[in-house]
Amino acid sequence: MKEQLEALLNDALAEFAKASTEAELQDLRVKYLGKKGLVTTSMKGLGALSPEERPAMGQVVNTVKAKLEEVLETRGAEVREASKAVRLAAEKVDVTLPGRRRPLGSKHPITLVTEEICSIFGALGFAVAEGPEVEHDFYNFEALNFPKDHPARDMQDTFFVGDNVLLRTHTSPVQIRTMLKQQPPVRIIAPGTVYRCDSDATHSPMFHQIEGLMVDKGITFGDLKGILTLFINQLFGKDIGVRLRPSFFPFTEPSAEVDIACVICRGKGCRVCKETGWLEILGAGMVDPAVYGHVGYDAEQYTGFAFGMGIERIAMLKYGIADMRLLFENDLRFLKQF
Ligand code: DAH
Repeated sequence: MKEQLEALLNDALAEFAKASTEAELQDLRVKYLGKKGLVTTSMKGLGALSPEERPAMGQVVNTVKAKLEEVLETRGAEVREASKAVRLAAEKVDVTLPGRRRPLGSKHPITLVTEEICSIFGALGFAVAEGPEVEHDFYNFEALNFPKDHPARDMQDTFFVGDNVLLRTHTSPVQIRTMLKQQPPVRIIAPGTVYRCDSDATHSPMFHQIEGLMVDKGITFGDLKGILTLFINQLFGKDIGVRLRPSFFPFTEPSAEVDIACVICRGKGCRVCKETGWLEILGAGMVDPAVYGHVGYDAEQYTGFAFGMGIERIAMLKYGIADMRLLFENDLRFLKQF
């Protein structure tokens, strides 16, 4: 029996040495020291021995058992250490590696131009004003002196939402809303989205405008020209040519369209300016007294000027964008350039 136990001990020690995980060691513990384990069963064999032999053999069994427990303990610690080392190696972080950069978005060219225009006028004391995109006929047309049969009210241009309710076709209604709320002096700039039933390479059914309005005592056409020239020189450069042409808008009298020298050919004539050397960039004029009538301003006391421009057009000219659709397609290869 002694030899048997020694053989058992050697087998066990060999197996313990081979085990490499805690689970394997646990299985071996059950195999040798468990309730039905090999050591336990050999203890039961003690009963068959003579009373003289029993104490000595009992001692051998106990020694074997103690030895196995001791080795299991140390192997367990070794295996735990080893698996911890493996885990640590796998989780190792090289703190000297450069960080992963999160891709940063950039501002849309429409936003860039809007912000630049607002900041130029901001420096001249103009406050930013806003109005709703779903607008009443009164603010969009009536108070701006559009006669009832004016072609701009036509279904072809205007998206009607309901009776006398429409998607604003320009930012000019913000003039009316501002004057109804506030007495002169007024100096506002109103950027926003506008809608027209129109779509091709140079027209989009949704686009953006900026409206401006300045009303006070003694404002003249000279102020209009001075402020708009200063604005254009800040946006397009000091040496850009500027000219005003007579025009017509129902809400201004007299009215003008403002051209800048072609940013592509600098006035020589090219495809972009249709060989004229000039590009139209905004509409403007002295506020028509009929408009003051709608907002309760005294036209004898106050004068002022208004202007409006399309932001897409300005962005295209400023950044040399040939097709307006690029501004709405959200192609990252295009947007990343700004
Ligand atoms: N609202 C005009 C348009 O959409 C632009 C405009 C022209 C605005 C002349 C003005 C102005 O304030 O005075 O075409």
